[in-house]
Amino acid sequence: MTDLTPVLSKTWGLDHSWNLDTYVANGGYEGATKALTMDPADIIQAVKDSGLRGRGGAGFPTGMKWGFLPAPDGGPRYLVVNADESEPGACKDVPTMMATPHAVIEGIVITSFAIGCNHAFIYVRGEVVHAHRRLMKAVAEARDNGWLGTNIKGTGFNLEITVHAGAGAYICGEETALLDSLEGRRGQPRLKPPFPAVAGLYARPTVVNSVESISSVPPIIAKGVDWFASMGTERSKGMGFFSLSGHVKRPGQYEAPLGITARELLEMAGGMREGHQLKFWTPGGSSTPIFTEEHLDTPLDYESVGAAGSMLGTRSLQMFDDTTCVVRAVERWTEFYKHESCGKCTPCREGTYWLELIMRRLEAGQGTMADIQQLLDTCDSIAGRAFCALGDAATSSVISSVNLFREEYERHVTEGGCPFDHAASALFDYDSAAEEANA
Ligand SMILES: Cc1cc2nc3c(=O)[nH]c(=O)nc-3n(C[C@H](O)[C@H](O)[C@H](O)COP(=O)(O)O)c2cc1C
Ligand code: SF4
Repeated sequence: MTDLTPVLSKTWGLDHSWNLDTYVANGGYEGATKALTMDPADIIQAVKDSGLRGRGGAGFPTGMKWGFLPAPDGGPRYLVVNADESEPGACKDVPTMMATPHAVIEGIVITSFAIGCNHAFIYVRGEVVHAHRRLMKAVAEARDNGWLGTNIKGTGFNLEITVHAGAGAYICGEETALLDSLEGRRGQPRLKPPFPAVAGLYARPTVVNSVESISSVPPIIAKGVDWFASMGTERSKGMGFFSLSGHVKRPGQYEAPLGITARELLEMAGGMREGHQLKFWTPGGSSTPIFTEEHLDTPLDYESVGAAGSMLGTRSLQMFDDTTCVVRAVERWTEFYKHESCGKCTPCREGTYWLELIMRRLEAGQGTMADIQQLLDTCDSIAGRAFCALGDAATSSVISSVNLFREEYERHVTEGGCPFDHAASALFDYDSAAEEANA
């Protein structure tokens, strides 16, 4: 059995874990203290050697991304922390910012020093007002204690952090849409190249990293590359959050080495709720193809999950039991993607509209067998043809659910309605009247 490895979550249970004093008393800012004595190039090399891969979903090697910045030309260079967390199922960055905002700030201090940035930004999802407030307070606390401002700890290094509240759009988590939004424009993805490393925020060299990647940097510098690389698998190093939600007995954040299996995590979470079996689950949030019980022993690392036909994504394991109608669940996700499509490109703008329409009629028992094929054809018109990854994401659960549960789609057609009792699958008191009123 793989053990949990609480590193970022180690102090979450402490009284006022978000205060600077508590953070420092538990090893906080040791990484930054050490980093400020290092050559910036050695910090980048250490992060490269650690094997840390971006925790925001794509898994791109973090140190390599920093290394892509062109040589300094005397102009500004930026670090932008992506704290827009909006993927259905993803729920790790908000608790990190709430419990240990200084872990994010310390990571920003180290990263900024390494890449030569004097002004960093945190783009936080605006709806999480509590996380925004906590970050603001922590930034003020860090400044009062000499971790931000001018001549930080006597090193001559200057750094300011701006905490920016987004307006709540999933697409603003896509790094280039985020940059446009941060510049005050409508958040829509940019054409790449140029990549942000070359022309990012205000057309200057920019690193965009997720909250979890940035928070993982201080322990790597403080405890060493070998310590970090000793966790995980050969090509997926280190620990990470696995966010369990849905019909499990103990949902929550499980911080463990990459390569742990969902079966192990499920056991730690007490299993599925009493009297029920796992039916399907997402390994990395709603944008990743769904898995079933047969995938429970797949190591949760980038390579193994990919080889099994899905993606590790944000490690958001949404677990659904036998009471759940897969057509209904996918219909809900499809509504989300249709709503969040930014409208810039035709395959996604039009395709998600049609996917939602067909999913709704199938779920309501008003679809035909031809609609099931039409779903797949529509996905084929979106996946690989859309301007950004949101389009592909919209098709993942549709394609995988038709492949794995086609007979359930067909039952909605032949039985003229949904064969499931929705009240039985609800996690909370189910109000069918309210649902009908909202429909
Ligand atoms: C639609 C969409 C939403 C995204 N949302 C987020 C997000 O909320 N947080 C995040 O870190 N990355 C998100 N990403 C990935 C970012 O574009 C980017 O890859 C990531 O922030 C890079 O950080 P990392 O290298 O540390 O993972 C999203 C991507 C897409 C296509
Ligand atoms: S794929 Fe969707 S979200 Fe991405 S640019 Fe096209 S319309 Fe916008």
